[in-house]
Amino acid sequence: MSTIEPLPSLAALDRVIIFAGDADHHADTNVCVIFAEEYPQSACGYDQETLERMGASSTLLTAFEIYRGNGQDAVIIGGGSRAELTTSRLRDIAATAVRTAKRASHLSIVIGGELPTGAARAMAEGVLLAAYRYDVHQSAAKVAPLRSVSIPVEQTSANLGKLSEARVNARSTVVARDLANMPPNYLTATDMAAHATALGAQFGFDVEAFDKKALTEMGCGGLLAVNQGSAEEPRLIRLRYRPESDPVSHLGMVGKGIMYDSGGISLKPSDPMHLLMKLDMGGAAAILGAFCGFRDRDVNVAVTGWLACTDNMPSVSAYRLGDVVTARGGTTIEIKNTDAEGRFAMSDSFVLANEEGVDAIIDIATLTGASLMALGQRRAPFFSNDETIAALVTASSETTDEAAWRFPLEPSYRPQLDSIIADISNLGGAFAGATTAALFIQHFVGDTPWAHIDIAGTMHADKDDAWRTRGATGYGARLLLQAAVDFEPGQDAEANS
Ligand code: BES
Ligand code: ZN
Ligand code: ZN
Repeated sequence: MSTIEPLPSLAALDRVIIFAGDADHHADTNVCVIFAEEYPQSACGYDQETLERMGASSTLLTAFEIYRGNGQDAVIIGGGSRAELTTSRLRDIAATAVRTAKRASHLSIVIGGELPTGAARAMAEGVLLAAYRYDVHQSAAKVAPLRSVSIPVEQTSANLGKLSEARVNARSTVVARDLANMPPNYLTATDMAAHATALGAQFGFDVEAFDKKALTEMGCGGLLAVNQGSAEEPRLIRLRYRPESDPVSHLGMVGKGIMYDSGGISLKPSDPMHLLMKLDMGGAAAILGAFCGFRDRDVNVAVTGWLACTDNMPSVSAYRLGDVVTARGGTTIEIKNTDAEGRFAMSDSFVLANEEGVDAIIDIATLTGASLMALGQRRAPFFSNDETIAALVTASSETTDEAAWRFPLEPSYRPQLDSIIADISNLGGAFAGATTAALFIQHFVGDTPWAHIDIAGTMHADKDDAWRTRGATGYGARLLLQAAVDFEPGQDAEANS
């Protein structure tokens, strides 16, 4: 098993060079972008009439490849309306260029006119994320031909800085994707801790992994309950990033790390969803990915992450419906459904974060099918008890195009979680499942400024879709990285005083 490279994309990322510059004359494939307002007199060497006959369209992201051989290929992409050109669209356009030019080794993207600020970073991210593939388990896998891409931005030092920033951001995403795509028989909670330790040594953060014995001593009854039916040990993985100069504030991150969610005794039905449940550690993977970027993006606050890792399995030793378990801190939880495991697998972590006195917590979890039903695979619902943290999540989401939307933490639904035997139950009513799950988490967070991102929908792409490669999307890694970059020293201490 260990002969498979666990994080193949770290090396793959470095195989693609990105240049700033108007056109690369050594390119074998030129990419031309057509905008609605300015159907061009010529593009990629074709005159207007030919372009029209070929059906070249300005409709956003319609793309086709013209194969001419001998290093003269072209890709024509619709850019939509020039007036509506955003960095998110540029990321998508660059990603689509890479996807369309499957045979290209040297790609040159040409877009005339002025581009919005952030163009360099967004386009470079689009290139690197679209070039992603996870094929280490395929015997016939070939190395992709793409070696270089030139991006139409000036060669200023600011832009060159943005290109390397993009590489750091993309690295966070591909680490998260590799981990999430890994088959569950290749990635146990113990393996996850080993990868975290190796990544920490490489990218500048400390890692401590708590095993079953330690978790028992720590009273982490939430995570231990979920682990009870498993043949594999759980791991609570704590990640610590500290900036070089003394940090003024401290951000906490908590991730759901269910390595495989069978549902436990409340076994999931045998539908296609089951197959996706190796991705139930996507939240933990996103946090680990984000940590890989903190040092290189000069994050100047302290960040501590807790990844609650175990699988959720039925067995003779598994926890039952009706069991009452005690989380760290003493809250008793009545288990009414063993498939609603993420919320209390993470419960101990929120208590630990509060014990450390973090100034704010962001958690990320593939928590509820209800969030997928509500917003689909492109946008994640998030919940927050604090305007400052909510604004930070919204802004980071916009910068990274990891789309999110704030949902209300409807307090009148809280009684649905009342238990007649314990402090709280893990199951709400039939409706607003993403909300009742968030309300459950809020119980453990208390008054600490907090945001909870439910990525059950956005963790996976059914097909290649601009920068999202089919499979695990790595959603959240860049968002969390950006949030840490923009989390200002003392931000919440001030806002709440
Ligand atoms: N891991 C699932 C949520 C999920 C569903 C993630 C679909 C990705 C895609 C979670 O543990 C779960 O099973 N939640 C239940 C909760 C319910 C029993 C209250 C759900 O959403 O059905
Ligand atoms: Zn579940
Ligand atoms: Zn789950």
